[in-house]
Amino acid sequence: MLQVVRKILDRIRSSSEPDRRMRSREPSEIFHRPHLASRMAADLLSRSHASGMFLTGPRRTGKSTFVKNDLCPTLEREHQALILYVDLWERGDEDPGAVIVGLVREAVKTQERLVAKTMRRLSLSRLRIPGLELDLTKTDEERPPSLKQSLERLSDLSRRTVVLIIDEAQQTQTTAYGRHVLYMLKSARDQLNGRDRILFRLLATGSHKEKIERLVSDKHQAFYCAPLEVMPTLGGEDFLAWERTSHGPAFRPGLAAMAEAFDLCLRRPEVFRVCCRETAAMAPLPGPAQERALLHAAQAAIEAEKHKLEVRVLLLDPLDQAVLRLMAEDGARFSPFFPPAERRLSAMLAAMPAAPVRDVSATAVRASLARLCDARLVWCGDGPHVLEESQFADWLVDLELAMPPVVQSPAIQAFAALR
Ligand SMILES: Nc1ncnc2c1ncn2[C@@H]1O[C@H](COP(=O)(O)OP(=O)(O)OP(=O)(O)O)[C@@H](O)[C@H]1O
Ligand SMILES: [Mg+2]
Repeated sequence: MLQVVRKILDRIRSSSEPDRRMRSREPSEIFHRPHLASRMAADLLSRSHASGMFLTGPRRTGKSTFVKNDLCPTLEREHQALILYVDLWERGDEDPGAVIVGLVREAVKTQERLVAKTMRRLSLSRLRIPGLELDLTKTDEERPPSLKQSLERLSDLSRRTVVLIIDEAQQTQTTAYGRHVLYMLKSARDQLNGRDRILFRLLATGSHKEKIERLVSDKHQAFYCAPLEVMPTLGGEDFLAWERTSHGPAFRPGLAAMAEAFDLCLRRPEVFRVCCRETAAMAPLPGPAQERALLHAAQAAIEAEKHKLEVRVLLLDPLDQAVLRLMAEDGARFSPFFPPAERRLSAMLAAMPAAPVRDVSATAVRASLARLCDARLVWCGDGPHVLEESQFADWLVDLELAMPPVVQSPAIQAFAALR
């Protein structure tokens, strides 16, 4: 009897197709990295990653695209994993903790429904075999199951390793419940490790290197000491050749020039694509001229971006500009409430032409940091402040700080226009 039930369950499990909704883009639009995906999937499910995997990388370099379009399918295909994927930015109006818990509970319900359907078909009302119990006569328990119980049940019902992927995982740090859920996941991980098969693995990634790093490097964090991987950026010759074919036969710059342009674009494929498109749209050019045009387009794209940032920064209050600059200079060592920071801020303000003498006390700096967070130039979860876009730190360091221009009221501007 037990074997018959197991066979039936295996049928149910194999019919529960992996969720492919997370794949958002047409395959032809994406350069795939199957070898990297196979290696990363094997690593994630190896004993060395029993604590989970945290994936970082600079902004807009293709982390989410790779996870959704290469890693998830590989985990399903090569390891029969059951993937639960959530992008916490996509659900930005909800508590990140509740989103994660809801995702796991929903997945359990879906699996239970599948098993229950088959049991009803077989006129079974109860199923009790090692590792799995289902009673259709029972209504929902009064007390909701813990995350550990839900993950265990999900893995038992599906007989697969549950891989929970949290994109924009830094968002968990923005609410108390989000932080708490990370601790619940850690507890689930610790309790579910060491079984005869792998029941659960966590992969966390996000758009901010320092924020993800902090989840494993701060001893007050749930996943302190979990392995941190740096996602290799695109830019190999195969990628460059693939991109080149997207722009028609007349677009033939050498791969070395393309690599240089891709570096200029801070290895971000979408910026690079725009530059290639612009160059390809020009009248046909001989090889070297086309390469120069591509490099020029990349340089111009970066200069335009720098200029935008500059305008944004120079409109800020002088103290905010100085605090931002100090953050860019000091990086992870940024300690704004210590005397050296106070001295540096005073020196920066003194060097700003026409800047008034400014208060650089802890209270003033705290208010300045709050303004910078509101302006989304700085981020602060449950720890120190960091730049929102850390890859622009070098630009901020080079920036010449200045008094913001006086903004006239609309009435004065209208009066000036009349004169
Ligand atoms: N493998 C790829 N092939 C083609 N284009 C890509 C690829 N990866 C990324 N891109 C392009 O780069 C854009 C940014 O990619 P993605 O959102 O995956 O980056 P990210 O590192 O997750 O960004 P963020 O730091 O904002 O989270 C995509 O919208 C896409 O246009
Ligand atoms: Mg992303």
